[in-house]
Amino acid sequence: MKISITRKIPETALQLLREADFEINISTIDRPLNSDELIKCCKNADGIICLLTDKFDKDMIDKLTKCKVIANYAVGFNNIDIEYAKEKNIIVTNTPDILTEATADTALLLMLSCARRSFEAEKFLRDGKFNGWSPDLFLGMDLSGKILGVIGAGKIGQAVAKRAYSFGMKIIYFSRGQKREIENKFKAKKVSLKKLLSSSDFVSIHLNLSESTKNLLSKENLNLLKKTAVVVNTARGEILDEDYLIKMLKSNKIFAAGFDVYRNEPKINPELKNLNNVVLLPHIGSATFDTRNKMAELAAKNVINVLKGKKALTPVN
Ligand code: DGY
Repeated sequence: MKISITRKIPETALQLLREADFEINISTIDRPLNSDELIKCCKNADGIICLLTDKFDKDMIDKLTKCKVIANYAVGFNNIDIEYAKEKNIIVTNTPDILTEATADTALLLMLSCARRSFEAEKFLRDGKFNGWSPDLFLGMDLSGKILGVIGAGKIGQAVAKRAYSFGMKIIYFSRGQKREIENKFKAKKVSLKKLLSSSDFVSIHLNLSESTKNLLSKENLNLLKKTAVVVNTARGEILDEDYLIKMLKSNKIFAAGFDVYRNEPKINPELKNLNNVVLLPHIGSATFDTRNKMAELAAKNVINVLKGKKALTPVN
């Protein structure tokens, strides 16, 4: 059976697929594939390992002649029409849990960098402007004693809460259901979204992108933020109104924002690059050697299981 992989991924996955006697076809194009390239790469595959940059909408799924499984090399799966895939008897899988800690670290990295203005300060130093210690050089915000609002208290949100709690932060969260674990372990309180936005000093987003979460942080909701607030997003860009947030940052209506994800990724709104009160990362939330190896392994195991007639380990449809 043939497995198509849309970009080079860690060897550990390839090893597993070879041991299972699959024929592997890895795209040699070292950038996200356009739709023609994606069709060419995947149309005759029995199983596919793809990236979050590969869009499997109805049209694309219709082009797949033999596919039984699409293993997304990501926890988010908004790039795949999972309902339509199900109609076509294609199992879609993702890589939950194993990237929780790495992504939570990235959220904290953004919170700290924003709070302590590390990007601005480092640039200042690299530009040769550091003339010695000064009482008011790059004053920022403390984390300790501040309120963190976690939007989406799933595994990653809870891992962020764990870190923030150990920094001495108070945690509030917004989630569809009550999350006893975050309440018991980190004294977190469930609140409405509006309450969270109006009372948090730091806001961290940890939701899946879906029709119900798209634009959740709308202009109206963003206007509730404190003037001293820091917002960080390691989930998906479309969850917040990026253009409006940029306006707020430009007029100092909030203190700072940290982005790992963007609305029109990989295009970055040029205005963002001109702002000092933002920290910008190129979607590296899960980018550690260990995490990416484990993600590759899980994607391969999902493909192997489905094609050998067993249950997928982490199906999403
Ligand atoms: C995911 O897996 O959805 C992340 O965004 C990748 O870093």
